[in-house]
Amino acid sequence: MKKYNVVIVGGGSTWTPGLLQSLTKNKNVFPLNRLVLFDIDAERQKIIGEYAKVLFKEKYPELDFQYTTDKEIAYKNMDFVFCQMRTGGYAMRELDEKIPLKFGVIGQETCGPGGFAYGMRSIRDMLQMIEDVRKYSPNAWILNYTNPAAIVAEAINRVYKDDKRILNICDQPVNLLRSYGRLLDMDPYEFEPVYFGLNHFGWFTHLYDKFGNDLVPKIKEIIKRQGFKPVDAEQRDQSWLDTYSIVKDMLEDFPDYLPNTYLQYYYYPEYKVKKLDPNYTRANEVMDGREKRVFAECRLVAEKGTTAGSSVVHNDAHGDMIVEVAESIAHNKNRIYIIITENNGLISNIQDDAMVEVAAILGVNGPRPFGVGKIGTFYKGLMEQQLAYEKLTVDAYFEQSYEKALQALTLNRTVVDAKKARKILDELIKANKGYWPELKKGRSKK
Ligand code: G6P
Ligand code: MN
Repeated sequence: MKKYNVVIVGGGSTWTPGLLQSLTKNKNVFPLNRLVLFDIDAERQKIIGEYAKVLFKEKYPELDFQYTTDKEIAYKNMDFVFCQMRTGGYAMRELDEKIPLKFGVIGQETCGPGGFAYGMRSIRDMLQMIEDVRKYSPNAWILNYTNPAAIVAEAINRVYKDDKRILNICDQPVNLLRSYGRLLDMDPYEFEPVYFGLNHFGWFTHLYDKFGNDLVPKIKEIIKRQGFKPVDAEQRDQSWLDTYSIVKDMLEDFPDYLPNTYLQYYYYPEYKVKKLDPNYTRANEVMDGREKRVFAECRLVAEKGTTAGSSVVHNDAHGDMIVEVAESIAHNKNRIYIIITENNGLISNIQDDAMVEVAAILGVNGPRPFGVGKIGTFYKGLMEQQLAYEKLTVDAYFEQSYEKALQALTLNRTVVDAKKARKILDELIKANKGYWPELKKGRSKK
């Protein structure tokens, strides 16, 4: 079997150990020749990289492994690029979440003004990464799960429309499928989902078992009766448990489809704002929890020179998905994933150039997405408003336009009020100095 060369961009991420374990676990189905971790933060990466050395010495001794801050070493002769960068790190995530909350607006990593700020930071680094990768590995598959995926995908599509080896994908639909599996006591790998929406903004309309039965009505009924929990509930922080439990409310109000959990911020912005603590947000929870735990465990493994007794990774749904996606492409498995792609009629009453999230068969030629036809007025209305926000955000980036940024935030359902949008924008501009392009007034095209 062919052995692949893989680079992980954002090697110093808290998610990397899980991904390394998934690669190790899957070495018989997706064998690696060479693995490189690449990060611009040498210090963080070293801790993870030294952990990786111990892990691979024990479980993958044949692997050619290296960690580096050098682009050429990282990107040369690669088959797959797994990209999970976070421009600005958790320090900026904390600001993304806290600044809007000061104005009584949702503070969240990918939704609302937080997602807007993060998007404006991510675009430049993502485009640069693709340029660098293409210089050294013109044919490598770039699997991207950098956030906010909707904004990043839109920006990439404007510059690299003809590059058919870039795939934007999010793990939340997989997390949801696994959670439905737990609810029904079924294997989620057997589900055939029908899904439509935008990233972090979509719905499962059907979920077929292998006999052709639609499981959605049954799942709705169970959630309405007993609530909803993530598949790995035992390892989740309270905020994630709250996020899943609100799906019950969403189904009471809008029972048509199974909603992506992120819709909570758009359906219930006022309620959610009241629940969020402006002084202690998800970024704090992650920094005090996952980040501390992962880095401490990695240090310990490196020190002891063995992984025996260590439990760096609890939840590896994220890592598993990425490795399985790569395998599905590499070996033309044609498994179904929910991916982000240009609409072109998939949702027939949504504009062609929208980057939508739908189910697709994934094989050696990339995704072949499934169309869903016409969607109802409520979903169309929600999607078009969010889509306009996403497009205007990317316009603001490329045109360096203050007005487009203001329009984007005003259109976001978590903001709505233009005066509030302006105050938040002005503060985000200050906080993101050096990360964002300079936004100028009076230069916006219509
Ligand atoms: C889900 C989403 C990701 C997001 C992550 C945040 O997996 O699909 O896009 O980055 O949640 O998780 P965290 O634990 O960092 O809040
Ligand atoms: Mn996601």
